[in-house]
This record gives sequence, structure tokens and C-alpha cells, in this order.
Amino acid sequence: MTNKKLNIYERIELLLDKGSFVEMDKYVKHRCTNFGMENKRVAGDGVVCGYGKIDGRIVFVYGFDFSVLGGSLSAANAKKIAKVQDMALKNGAPIIGLNDSGGARIQEGVESLTGFAEIFRRNVMSSGVIPQISAIMGPCAGGSCYSPALTDFILMVNEESQMFVTGPNVVKQVTNEDCDKETLGGAMVHASESGVCHLVSDNDEDCIMTIRELVGFLPSNNMEDAPVHPATDDVLRSCHELDQVVPANPNLPYDIKNIIEPICDQQYFFEIQPDFAKNIVVGFGRMAGRTVGFVANQPNYLAGAIDIDASDKAARFIQFCDCFNIPLVAIEDVPGFLPGIKQEHMGIIRHGAKIVYAFAEATVPKITLITRKAYGGAYIVMNSKQIGADINLAYPSAEIAVMGAKGAVSILYRKETPEQQQTRIKEYEEQFANPYCAAELGYIDDIIDPADTRKAIIKALEACRNKSLSNPPKKHGNAPM
Ligand code: HXC
Repeated sequence: MTNKKLNIYERIELLLDKGSFVEMDKYVKHRCTNFGMENKRVAGDGVVCGYGKIDGRIVFVYGFDFSVLGGSLSAANAKKIAKVQDMALKNGAPIIGLNDSGGARIQEGVESLTGFAEIFRRNVMSSGVIPQISAIMGPCAGGSCYSPALTDFILMVNEESQMFVTGPNVVKQVTNEDCDKETLGGAMVHASESGVCHLVSDNDEDCIMTIRELVGFLPSNNMEDAPVHPATDDVLRSCHELDQVVPANPNLPYDIKNIIEPICDQQYFFEIQPDFAKNIVVGFGRMAGRTVGFVANQPNYLAGAIDIDASDKAARFIQFCDCFNIPLVAIEDVPGFLPGIKQEHMGIIRHGAKIVYAFAEATVPKITLITRKAYGGAYIVMNSKQIGADINLAYPSAEIAVMGAKGAVSILYRKETPEQQQTRIKEYEEQFANPYCAAELGYIDDIIDPADTRKAIIKALEACRNKSLSNPPKKHGNAPM
């Protein structure tokens, strides 16, 4: 692994299978004559486009060369990008953009701006048809951020790449704020605070290898399934390490990844957005060689409560999996939506509705496992039977109720003495702190031992493999935003 910042040809060579890259439009030049631009014409105009293969599968690619006029987008190089976008869409192949660009070429005025409009429109038309992946590998401004924002995944290189609507100089002029590129829009800002970035790498090579790995989890388009890997890990493997993961004391936290990882093939989980909204964990794994999308509450962080950021993160991931025929596995331990003035005022109702919408709309196989708490609205939204899950499983430690015992008693029996309330809490716990009421009603299909989690989920996924379900015909829904 090298820390070297690579040039655009080195990046593309590394991204694609050896010798597979075919360049298109390398002779294209801009035609601008403003501000002496006629003297700054180079073949390719600072953008490299073409196609090649990743693990033998065709992908289309474009990348910016920052050394040519700051990688800025001209009308001419926008046409090159639009051409590969059209090719990718027509041919049902993923498209990967390697961005390193100061945005619309200022010298061209409206001509370069319209170039971005052409690219954005194609991003939108390709959405849900082919996977679109954006790497940010240098300073990126304006349209060079908005096009990635319209794609499925954004990867950034730490301390080498930034994203912002406009750079620090213009920020100073407009808002009089002092900042540098990194504090304004560095990789960690977008990975942990804004949620714009999905994955951060240490260097160019790491970033490009991560893109290759990500592509390996995905189908080439929405009509195909993701590639199936030979299942070398026993599908009936018992996972006794799971016996001790959920603590007996319901108030103690634990790491939900200690449940996800052991049940994946080779115990390998590819997490997406690991630094953002840590109270929910999303990512890909393989089970019996097939890609699965996991969405799991994280009791280790905010007790797994669902807040605004967690809602956005989960909803978008669920939607992606549904677009691309990737079955969903929800793993649930959630005390509820995060209450409070800040969350309410910032719109937890609007944002929380996104998870409901995404799970309810998804027609891929949907499996749920409740490990412990499944309280209130959060129980419903985390892929409950009635929201449309196909198979719902629970551990014996599951607690399925409108709310926790203490909260319920404080509402129902608030006039009773503390001693009486203690008795009520015990009664409530006996009644609801288990999965059996829900199982009696058929809302939980089976109660399983933790050690059987892998085989139970694999069997459930197998049972649902040929699931065929369509939502009512419509132009499109009106999802909360
Ligand atoms: C033309 C540009 C350029 C641009 C950079 N350059 N951005 N040339 N058009 N958009 C040139 C610089 O003049 C410089 O040329 C060279 O690229 C390197 O830039 P530096 O500023 O020296 O690099 P650095 O210090 O790393 O800063 C990078 C930067 C900054 C943060 C990206 O250049 C910057 O703020 N650029 C403008 C960003 C911006 O506001 N873009 C327009 C966005 S509008 P020389 O000759 O000196 O080497 C847009 C449409 C949006 O994109 C639509 C959204 C909906």
C-alpha cells in the first residue's frame, strides 16, 4: 500500500482489471476563447473516460485530472462524461466517477454550468437502474459534489479530498467565515457529521481497492442479481459465540456487530457509513455466497435509539438494496425513536417516516431478527411483519411491547406508591418482556437460539429467494424527504 497521490491514469489502471481499460474521446478539446483560454487547450481537456472490467464484469469510468485547469468541467468534457453515462445506462453496467475537480469551469460561464445539468439529469435517470459510485480524490466544489451526491456511494480519501458547494475563498467573501478546505469539507467532516460520505480511505490505492470490493457485492443493473460467490463457509454452521452476546441485564449495551459478523460467510461484514449515525449499522455481507444488506440497531450507541441521522442512513441503504435486488436482514434491538426537543424541532417525525417508507416499499426478501428490545413505533418500523417482512425471528431474550416497563407504569399507574409501582413493573415485565405474546399472534414466526442464527436466516432467505411482489402501479411515490 502506498500513500502516493496517483494521477488519473494510474487511478484508472488500478481500478480496472489489468489491461482492460479502453479510453474514449481522448482527442476532445474545449472551444472556449474567453480569458485567453484558446492558449490552454489540451487533448482530453482534463477528463479521462472509457470502460474496462472489475473482476471480469464491464464498468464505465470517468475521472478528472486536477492538473488541467483544476479539473474544472467544461462544456466539452461534460459531453464526454454524458457519453459514458449513456453507454453505462444502455448497457446495464455500473459507472464509477473519480472526482478531483473545482467544479464548473469559471471561464466558460453558462456553457460549463449546463454541462453539469446534463450530467445530473443522467445521474437521476440512472438511479435505481445501474449502480453509480463516486470517489472524491482531491478538492471538489460545486457540481463536482452535487453529481456525486446524486449517486449511490461516495468514497473519500482522508486528508486529500474535500467536498463543498464552494471553496474557502468564496466562503470568506460571502459569510466572512475563516476556514480551510479540510475544516470546511474534509473526509471526516462528511463521514461523521454531514453523512455525505459513505467510506473513508487512507490513500488513493485503498480507496480504489474499496471501490472494487464494493462493486463485487452489487449486481451490474436492476435486472440482475449480485454475483454469487462459491459458498465455502458451512451454511449450517452453528454460532455458539452468539450465546453470550446479548447481556442478561437489559440495560447493558453490546456491539450488534458481534451478531452480524459471525453469521456472515467468512465472518466478513462490509460496513457502510461506519462513522455516521453509529446508532444504526448498515452494510453488506454474504450468506450462502449471496449478497445480503444488513440494517441493525446498535445498542452500543445511544442505546440503539433511532434519531434523525439514523433514519436517513437506514432509509437510503434500504432503498438502495431494494433497487438492486439485494435481500434485507433487519436486526433489532431498539428502545424507540430518540425523544427530545432538538430531535422534534429538527424533524424526527419527517425523517423517521423515511425508514417506514423504505421498508414498507421494499419488495426484496425481508427478514427480521429481534435480539432484545423492540419497543413502540421503532418495533413497527424495523421491518415488522405488518410493515411487510417475510420472516420474523426472535431470540428468547426479545421484549416486544409499546414501551419499556418503567415508562409504561409511570403512565398507567402514576398515582400509585413507589412500592406498588415496583410490583406493576414486575407484572408488566412478565407479560411483555418476552417474544411469546407476539409469537402467539403470529407476528413472530419462530423463536430461535442465538447459536442457530446463521442457519435460520440462510433458510429464511432461501425460502424467499423467488419472492415476487409488485407495488401498485404509479408514476412514483411521494416519499418523505
Ligand atoms: C476554472 C479553476 C476552477 C474552476 C480551480 N481552478 N477551480 N479554473 N474553473 N472552477 C484552477 C485555479 O485557478 C488554479 O489555476 C488551479 O485550478 C488550481 O486551483 P487552486 O485554487 O490553486 O487549488 P486549491 O488551493 O487546491 O483549491 C482548490 C479549490 C479552489 C478549493 C477547488 O480552486 C476553488 O475554490 N475553486 C473554485 C470552486 C468553485 O466555486 N467552483 C465553481 C462551482 S459552481 P492556476 O492556473 O492558478 O494553476 C459549479 C456549478 C454548481 O460547479 C451547480 C450545483 C448545483
